Amino acid sequence: MLSAPTGESAVFADLVRTRRSARDFLPDAIAPELLDAILADANASPSWSNTQPYRLAIASGNIKDKLKAELCERYDIAMKVQRGGWMAKLKLLVSRHGLPDGDFKVNFEYPKALQPARRATGHGLYKLLGIARDDHAARAMQMRKNFEFFNAPTVLFIFVHAGLHEFSVLDAGIYLQSLMLSAHANGLATCAQGALATWGGPVRAAFEVPADYKLICGVSMGYASSDTVNQFNPGRAPAAAQLLPVKR
Ligand SMILES: Cc1cc2nc3c(=O)[nH]c(=O)nc-3n(C[C@H](O)[C@H](O)[C@H](O)COP(=O)(O)O)c2cc1C
Repeated sequence: MLSAPTGESAVFADLVRTRRSARDFLPDAIAPELLDAILADANASPSWSNTQPYRLAIASGNIKDKLKAELCERYDIAMKVQRGGWMAKLKLLVSRHGLPDGDFKVNFEYPKALQPARRATGHGLYKLLGIARDDHAARAMQMRKNFEFFNAPTVLFIFVHAGLHEFSVLDAGIYLQSLMLSAHANGLATCAQGALATWGGPVRAAFEVPADYKLICGVSMGYASSDTVNQFNPGRAPAAAQLLPVKR
């Protein structure tokens, strides 16, 4: 029989249920000791054979600003190409500058079954921000904020060892959740960002990344602002919705 919830389980339930992705940060820097403490918490995560098959590139200050400028430049080129005709596409293919060079494909056709949740999340966010469905310019500007790291003072890029196949990605996911929960417990906010895996070149140019490590995602971290966007809570399907029925 389960014992009554202890103080610790109530604290955990509150922590895991109140964490939200932040998409607008204050400029305040994260104290180095605080970041170290969060990294130490995340480092306690379990992994496949305890291989800890992930590496982090952490950027703040000038390096972060340079990455922001380089990623935004690439995003702007991509948007221009999307709006332009075949000439713009041809130019991009020839120059290759701005072409996605990430290790994983970030833009892909969503499986039909996952489309409703994806749409609801996107529409929910745009509705909260007062962005109309057909306002492509405003949507593109909102998307661009990913590459501005939502103004966060610190951004972390997570790499996984390619040799462990999907399992290093699984391990990185566990690590990511520990990191985000520790940040939340310490009064900081985060946003995991698959978008930050679109272009790997700028991060690889700034950090010593071993060739067998692949960029899987980024995480913006800092203090959440009071901007409306940070009220976004897409909710969840009931826990029972994830359960597979027994075959009859
Ligand atoms: C692996 C991963 C990648 C994500 N990528 C992005 C992203 O590129 N941009 C973004 O704004 N949010 C991104 N998110 C945040 C999700 O949209 C968010 O976690 C989800 O909508 C649930 O909201 P919540 O985190 O506030 O609970 C990502 C989350 C995860 C876990």
